[in-house]
Amino acid sequence: MKHTILTILSAVAALSAAAQVPTLNDTPLKEVFGDKFKVGVAINNFQAHETDTKGAEVVKHHFNSIVAENVMKNEKIHPEKGVYFWDDADAFVKFGEDNGMDIIGHCLVWHSQLAPWFLVDDEGKYVSADTLKARLRDHIHTVVGRYKGRVRGWDVVNEAIVEDGSYRKSPLYQILGEEFIPLAFQYAHEADPDAELYYNDYGMNVAGRRDAVVRLVGELKKRGLRIDGIGMQGHMGMDYPDFEEFEQAIDAFAGTGCKVMITEWDMSALPTLHRSANVADVVAFRKAMNPYPDGLPADVAAEWNSRMDAFYSLFLRHADQIDRVTAWGVSDGDSWKNGWPMRGRVEYPLLFDRNYEMKPFLKKLTEYHKNK
Ligand code: GLA
Repeated sequence: MKHTILTILSAVAALSAAAQVPTLNDTPLKEVFGDKFKVGVAINNFQAHETDTKGAEVVKHHFNSIVAENVMKNEKIHPEKGVYFWDDADAFVKFGEDNGMDIIGHCLVWHSQLAPWFLVDDEGKYVSADTLKARLRDHIHTVVGRYKGRVRGWDVVNEAIVEDGSYRKSPLYQILGEEFIPLAFQYAHEADPDAELYYNDYGMNVAGRRDAVVRLVGELKKRGLRIDGIGMQGHMGMDYPDFEEFEQAIDAFAGTGCKVMITEWDMSALPTLHRSANVADVVAFRKAMNPYPDGLPADVAAEWNSRMDAFYSLFLRHADQIDRVTAWGVSDGDSWKNGWPMRGRVEYPLLFDRNYEMKPFLKKLTEYHKNK
């Protein structure tokens, strides 16, 4: 009797969860597309700690790969000299393990979200090349070493090349030159010889950057260093990237022998903010840049869905080259794009809306592919 009551109660609880989180009624994306590529998502701290219970349920239902949106970045995990902060990264890895997911570490070396102490001495001056090497080695060995055998692959270096194909003149580059890249790959491999290692960047459709990344991968391989994957971040808008260029880049990267990964997929539905914009009338500008605070108009939503459909269909056509497609966040409300490139925008860039409804393009694609 007691058992029957408990069973009924848990069935009722499941039903009410599904009512509040509609997409739990959809066929899991990982079931529909899992034989093509890994179906990934970046998760935030609330989802990893399961305080955002709805978001966490959506992640468990649909995805078989996770990446940490922020908690493994240098400023979070290594905030001060000699001080590592593990709680959040540990919770993220545990969440992935408890749910049988592929866990991706992001990111070991990046010029942004770097702890303030990392590049400078006590007087605030840039450290020497040798000191930076030692710091990089310690950072990478400690972080990768802690999760040895548990993280499938690492974004080792993020965003080191700019559009014209030259190296980004970041402080990392200024202190160590281009050598910081092979060193990072070497240190990561020393710390976990079985982990996959990736180079990750945005705007990878741009010919200059694309060709430079292909050359970089060739150089790393020539030196006998391990590199398994090239991450195309995939932050998109309604007017970028160019579709054909994006497809050519997939082919170019696959041609290096690396796996191609769409690592940070989202598509802004709002007007692109161009740096040259004339902002003399700030109020009018803010309004123009945040045009849909109460919901996307049907025509814009239709255009957004059709562009997302085209890209997802492209990924499916290139499934033999693409290892993973990872969305950069769970629902629209979670997206970093609500705060960038301007705070307070209401954005609609992800696979699920703020009420956890699956976006129409994906619903249509899953229906089609699950019946195939
Ligand atoms: C880059 C980084 C990500 C994330 C996004 C947006 O693409 O790789 O970790 O920070 O910017 O914020």
